[in-house]
Amino acid sequence: MHSVIQENDTTQERRTENFLHRSDGSSVSQAPVNDRVVSLTAPGSVAAEQYRSLYYRLERLREQRPMRLVAFTSALAGEGKTVTAANLALTSARANPDRRILLIDADLRGGQVAEMLAFRARPGLSELLQGDAELREVVRRFKANRLAVIPSGQVPEEPTQLLASPRMKELLRAVREGFDEVYLDLPPALPFADASILGTLSDAVVLVVRANATAGKHVHQALEHLAGSSVVGCVLNGAALASTPYLKSYVR
Ligand SMILES: Nc1ncnc2c1ncn2[C@@H]1O[C@H](COP(=O)(O)OP(=O)(O)OP(=O)(O)O)[C@@H](O)[C@H]1O
Ligand SMILES: [Mg+2]
Repeated sequence: MHSVIQENDTTQERRTENFLHRSDGSSVSQAPVNDRVVSLTAPGSVAAEQYRSLYYRLERLREQRPMRLVAFTSALAGEGKTVTAANLALTSARANPDRRILLIDADLRGGQVAEMLAFRARPGLSELLQGDAELREVVRRFKANRLAVIPSGQVPEEPTQLLASPRMKELLRAVREGFDEVYLDLPPALPFADASILGTLSDAVVLVVRANATAGKHVHQALEHLAGSSVVGCVLNGAALASTPYLKSYVR
């Protein structure tokens, strides 16, 4: 179960413990996983524990109703959607080695999932939706766990149109069949229609709120934009509790 990180005693290995093996060979680039992806880089940390606790809240909700597709958005840019979605998908992959789990970077406007996890960025969702790549070409995998990742790919001319296309619906149907859990990283809800479109196609939407940064009125407006989606809770990201990183989840 703890095979996600390549654990090894040599100093060299310890220094590079966030250089994980990717099955697509992109580890050759030696790009490090972003330090905020604590579920990989620091699984014993307080922050990683917070993601585990958030994950188990979602699990409890899953007992009440099926939640295969869970989408993450926020009112505005930079609130921590990508960090949260990546950590949750990884936490789940670690907790459930037998589950097939997929993280889709549906932020076609410049998604950061590939960069954060140090995967090759193209081709991705954008190429898939434009018919320039097959599903098997856009899925990346870690060797050590069963998490599959689809990066966003090259920024297209009409992101919203692509996300609203029949191809996207077809993809979501296919991944519902092929995976037990799918996490969608979306753009922010206020500036773009993308989140409200994909929110209604998801089983649940989690709203990430940057603590001490996002105005309450923006949170309310984002919830209005997400009308028709099933918003199951908020994640308060980056609140200070003593001197440790803190993440609190509210799930209604
Ligand atoms: N709890 C936190 N404490 C400190 N920094 C954080 C925290 N969460 C995220 N960050 C940093 O804030 C920045 C934005 O995070 P992230 O990319 O996850 O946000 P986002 O909502 O996905 O942004 P975008 O709207 O651009 O997609 C990143 O540099 C990330 O490392
Ligand atoms: Mg993001």
